[in-house]
Amino acid sequence: MLTYRQSGSGPAVVLLHGFPLSHAIWEHQIAALSGTYRVIAPDLPGMGGSALLPEGEASMARYAREVLNLVDSLGVGPFALAGHSMGGYVALALQKEAPQRVAGLGLVASQAGADTPEGREGRFATAEKVRAEGPGVVAGAMGPKLFGSGVTPEDPRYRQVDAIMRGTAPEGIRAALFAMAGREDMQPRLPTIGGPALVLAGEQDKIIPVEKAETVAANLKAATLVKLPCGHMPMLEEPEATSAALSRWLSLVF
Ligand code: MLT
Repeated sequence: MLTYRQSGSGPAVVLLHGFPLSHAIWEHQIAALSGTYRVIAPDLPGMGGSALLPEGEASMARYAREVLNLVDSLGVGPFALAGHSMGGYVALALQKEAPQRVAGLGLVASQAGADTPEGREGRFATAEKVRAEGPGVVAGAMGPKLFGSGVTPEDPRYRQVDAIMRGTAPEGIRAALFAMAGREDMQPRLPTIGGPALVLAGEQDKIIPVEKAETVAANLKAATLVKLPCGHMPMLEEPEATSAALSRWLSLVF
């Protein structure tokens, strides 16, 4: 079972973190939303406090199944589901597996396509380096790309994210890299996804360019696109605006 943070009561919203992070990135949003909603923020397998899956079993669909097992164990019916980056890939996989459970979908600094062949090769090369050298490889490569202008390596938010990445088990990082490399192209499914959707993107995102979010929003049935002046980590860089966007979206969902 996944470890998770739960706060508040009311209609349920599940927040999924990105790679290779933990529920801790959502602290501001958990505090802001839990006055009105039951907020559930799990750690995906092999990240945060959650155990690794058996070797070779990681996939976006399997991560989604683990999230469903968690919400089932908590007795949650239909819920709003928002995912950050890789968490968005998991959210799309969960929506495919159990569309009737997802009352509304939120994608934060994410995208719906699969990896390109070069992207996949890059993931395999990174996985190999992580095996040899540990999680610092990913922290060192991703850290400088995660934030928009104005967040330096001395910034507490940079340090928080850096510490989470460096504290993640190498096997958890490698499993997530292979799972992302193998993920399905969800773009053809976007027009079939029901319920109010939120697509939130950072205008300075160096990992997933804002154009990807624009494409996702244009293809979803009922999406609101929100662009914020930040990088890949809107929940930390623009916490109030991110919480406000989630809150507006949730008021449409429930
Ligand atoms: C993430 O932030 O979750 C990942 O960087 C997404 C990706 O690598 O595709």
